[in-house]
Amino acid sequence: MSSMSGRDLVRSIWAVGSAGAPQGLRTVRAAWRRRRTDAVGLPARGAERARVPGPVQDAEPAPGGGVVRFSRSELRIVVAVNGAVFWGWDGAGPEPSYALAGRCPEPDPRAVLEPDKDGGWRVVAERVTVMVSRHGAVEVRTPGGVTLRRDLPPRWWEPVGGGEARWMQRTEVAADARFFGLGGRACGPRLRDGTYRLWNTDPGRAFGPGDDPLYVTMPVQLVVADAATHLVFHDTSWDGTVTLREGEEGAGSGHDRAGMSELRMAGGPLRCWVMVGTPARVLLAWASLTGAPALPPSWALGHHHARRGFGSEQEVRRIVAGYQERGLPLDAVHLDIDHHDEHQVFTVDQERFPKLPQLAEELRRDGIRLVSIVNPAVKAAPGNAVHDSGTAEDAFVRDASGRLVEGVGWPGEAVYPDFTHARVRAWWGRLYQERLTAGFAGFWHDMNEPTSFNAFGESTLPRSARHSLEGRGGDHREAHNVYALCMAQAGYEGLRELVPGERPFLFSRSGWAGIQRYGGTWSGDVATGWPGLRASLSLVMGLGLCGVPYSGPDVGGYDGHPSPELYLRWFQLGAYLPLFRTHASLRAGRREPWEFGAEVLEHARVALVERRRLLPYFMTLAQLARRTGAPYVRPLWWSVPEDRALRDCEDAFLLGDSLLVAPVLDPGSDRRAVQLPRGRWYDTTTEQVYEGPGQVLVDAPLSRIPVLARAGAVIPVRADDGGIELEVWAPARGRSGGGLVVEDAGDGWDEPEIERYVARWEGRKLVVQREGEDGLSEPSHPVRLRGLGAR
Ligand code: NOJ
Repeated sequence: MSSMSGRDLVRSIWAVGSAGAPQGLRTVRAAWRRRRTDAVGLPARGAERARVPGPVQDAEPAPGGGVVRFSRSELRIVVAVNGAVFWGWDGAGPEPSYALAGRCPEPDPRAVLEPDKDGGWRVVAERVTVMVSRHGAVEVRTPGGVTLRRDLPPRWWEPVGGGEARWMQRTEVAADARFFGLGGRACGPRLRDGTYRLWNTDPGRAFGPGDDPLYVTMPVQLVVADAATHLVFHDTSWDGTVTLREGEEGAGSGHDRAGMSELRMAGGPLRCWVMVGTPARVLLAWASLTGAPALPPSWALGHHHARRGFGSEQEVRRIVAGYQERGLPLDAVHLDIDHHDEHQVFTVDQERFPKLPQLAEELRRDGIRLVSIVNPAVKAAPGNAVHDSGTAEDAFVRDASGRLVEGVGWPGEAVYPDFTHARVRAWWGRLYQERLTAGFAGFWHDMNEPTSFNAFGESTLPRSARHSLEGRGGDHREAHNVYALCMAQAGYEGLRELVPGERPFLFSRSGWAGIQRYGGTWSGDVATGWPGLRASLSLVMGLGLCGVPYSGPDVGGYDGHPSPELYLRWFQLGAYLPLFRTHASLRAGRREPWEFGAEVLEHARVALVERRRLLPYFMTLAQLARRTGAPYVRPLWWSVPEDRALRDCEDAFLLGDSLLVAPVLDPGSDRRAVQLPRGRWYDTTTEQVYEGPGQVLVDAPLSRIPVLARAGAVIPVRADDGGIELEVWAPARGRSGGGLVVEDAGDGWDEPEIERYVARWEGRKLVVQREGEDGLSEPSHPVRLRGLGAR
């Protein structure tokens, strides 16, 4: 194998299909290496001893809570000023943490630890009460005394000979509770009964709703119940599983059966954060803890076209011309590994892309940016500049005996930077200069679970591989899930240094809690097919509820030939998702809108033009996401989580406060049922009125998917002259409405102000005004009234 060139090696991977561990690579040498690398430094667990906290001994108050001591463990509770509650067993504190955006927030001095009945203790805070039983059960209650979750006393299993303890935490939740989150899951957004793994995984082939786990896993659960919504985050990056079982409400005379969640972790601290309130309040607290979502530059909210196999500059020009000649808006073109020299990161194939900076400049003049793929695997070959500078920095992951860990990436045999080291991140961040010089404006992190084709047991680095973990030292069992997060940090911080005046644009296939502060993500290699279309929506909604608002799928699916109808329905959905990108693999059919016949082209044009028209609204949503943590794409229950019918609705979403998007997810439909939240809604194409709450049937011809506007909404849209116009949907008589506008202040760091608008009836006249500190004034933008004809 060592005599193979990178290209040969990768060809042999493709020759056996894209599936995870290619047979062609399973050489004797690789098998031997796999056994050896995984064995070094990972002692056999041997006999284990089980432990529970035991009976309570005493307690000691401290700012924001205190410590409750049990005979075999201790529990530390801190209520932070942002209202979030932390607790950690066995002395675990909130830091160090890869999830936290900075230091742990200050304790809330008003929260006090006090004795409770039956020998237990409790911490009473403004929004939540935490009760600790004398055996170590921890209960979270609303201020009104309703129980939101009850953690039974945890259980640890410790190797008798020393080493990392594995642990289990079982929790009961309300019988009516629904689970969401756990990162990007294809089978959601509501997470039904089953076991979900917490281990970022490249499935090695295009995935569908049955594939789990995928690229972004997070120990983050959003639990929605009548009494309140809460988010629980177990701040542990180790491998684990979450088993969920929804509860059942006793019908009539029957008893309620509580919902159940059981978390099993292979190691790491047993510590968690809980945030309670409305969904909006919970996501706000989560963002204040783990970081405000990065604000994409405005062009990143437009349409992106990617594809494997852009083989030359001429081909890029041809595709771009295809968009331009047909008058189709295009904002970014993504270059996959095909433009690299022998698939090596931070290189350009000079034969096929001899004048990349010039091409980038031409495109930029037409308002189109180039985005580059960036993989972590660095070709293990002296003479390769990235390899040599990384070697000089001692940047690459080693095993316990000090040898470099070699995997296989696109360039062939490869080494992997240890992004859990600040010095390595700084080195990697500087490498983006090469990309900037080549003319790229954005970055697409890929294969960063990290993936290695030669599969040391799983298609990633061996669990025994050593990592710095910020100097604490540890192995891949702990570093794996935060690898992509740390790579994103490296890229983001590097770009901030290199181009201080511009907001970086990066999105990453893999990630963990906190990835939003560096950028977004995308849904990876979703399978072409109607189930893949549905999975796309599940991923975007689920990630949004974990605090990652910017994401989107490969429109058309990654691996196959979508029918014109499927392509169009995917395109129409994509047009309303934060990242709107067409992309596909080498062997898949093409994804340009004109490849599916004249009718699809016409309807795709409508979707593209509408996306461009809605850009000011998308920018407002991006700005609000940064300020509040609220995702652009929200479940229908976002502001009414107690509405059971909405809570169970997974096939439609709110885009911000103002629009309800009901994509067509099944073949052959020209109408679909839509579950409406309370109030009046307008079909934005026909202006037909629907009254919620309740289910209505809405037209969904091939030309469009139903998009409904909330009565009273004030929506910033792009006017024909390129400026902003306010589209105002008439409130019902006797009611009022409003909306926010945050203008795009360029792609830098200026803080645009938030404009607030109100819409109300004055007699028979609908009046729209701007609300300011000095009262009401004329709107700053032209107003277009809609829905006036409706009765
Ligand atoms: C895997 C990514 O998920 C896909 O989008 C990309 O095209 C291939 N890697 C090749 O770079």
